[in-house]
Amino acid sequence: MSADDPVARAVEVLLAGGLVGLPTETVYGLAVDASNPAAVARMFAAKGRPADHPVIVHLAEARAIADWAVDIPAAAWQLAAAFWPGPLTIILKRAPHVADAITGGQDTVGLRVPAHPVAHAVLAAFARARAGRPAGVAAPSANTFGRVSPTTAAHVREEFGDAVDFVLDGGQSAVGIESTIVDLSSGAARVLRPGRITAAQVAAVLGSAGAAGAVPSPVPRVSGALDSHYAPRTPTLLVAGADLPAWLDAHAGRRVALLSPAAPARDGVLHWPAPADAEVYAHALYATLRAMDAAGCDLIVVQAPPQGGAWDGVNDRLRRAAHPAPA
Ligand code: TXA
Ligand code: MG
Repeated sequence: MSADDPVARAVEVLLAGGLVGLPTETVYGLAVDASNPAAVARMFAAKGRPADHPVIVHLAEARAIADWAVDIPAAAWQLAAAFWPGPLTIILKRAPHVADAITGGQDTVGLRVPAHPVAHAVLAAFARARAGRPAGVAAPSANTFGRVSPTTAAHVREEFGDAVDFVLDGGQSAVGIESTIVDLSSGAARVLRPGRITAAQVAAVLGSAGAAGAVPSPVPRVSGALDSHYAPRTPTLLVAGADLPAWLDAHAGRRVALLSPAAPARDGVLHWPAPADAEVYAHALYATLRAMDAAGCDLIVVQAPPQGGAWDGVNDRLRRAAHPAPA
């Protein structure tokens, strides 16, 4: 029966301690049962991820955060009501049963209720199967450590091959970049990772109480805050639009894959059009970087996008993709 029902099959694999490629509206996750230490260890090994990097626990509904966190502030329920299901992760004080492997040994846990209908169906069926016990699915982005995140089922299969037990196909992720992370575990809210939901939107919901700290401020314990994250294999650099013509002239001998709003009048440049809208840009970003990486050029050049709230997530990912600057 479950052979015909991918959601039921995914739940079976999770319950058996396996790894599932799970579509979400942000990026695809490499999902395991968060209460199964052996499964969590397999997931870390498949990703090649250092053990002290915490992973997000995905839940079917907001009220389940009480199964995973303690001392939950009113701000958590306010953000949950405003943005869940959706591309937001909330960091809270962890409940005692939450494994060190999930939290990276910290006293906090990251929680998210995704909006993708396939993810939601899996999480809801998983919760029913857990029959009242805490039901959480730990899922980092389904890329090997430091590489570009996947936004299609095919990307997940490319990254992991047989190391992933089952990949659910939920189409191309709508948001395209990882969730906004807001830390509510100590005092004022802080945005640890920008995403589709902006710091200004978070501050608007929390009012003056939460607004003060709601600005992007990456901390080292967020793995995405490491240098050289989300990186293509081809050396990648960001160039300001005003500098681009001169840069292309100075590098006329190089084969360049260029992501920019306007096609350049240059030979030897493969051009990908850069969307003018931040959400459209984010939606296509990782698939575009993968395609540019596969083009076999000497360099990937990205014309720096605009600055400002809606672009924070895109600019954050591009800065990491472009580090360190190639010679
Ligand atoms: O959109 C997303 O968030 C995707 C989808 C699959 O949900 N997941 C994702 O997971 O991006 P990952 O593991 O690639 O990134 C999660 C980030 C990491 O930077 C991790 O350090 C941070 O969340 N994180 C998780 N738990 C945390 C905690 N307790 N404190 C601070 N940062 C935490
Ligand atoms: Mg990641």
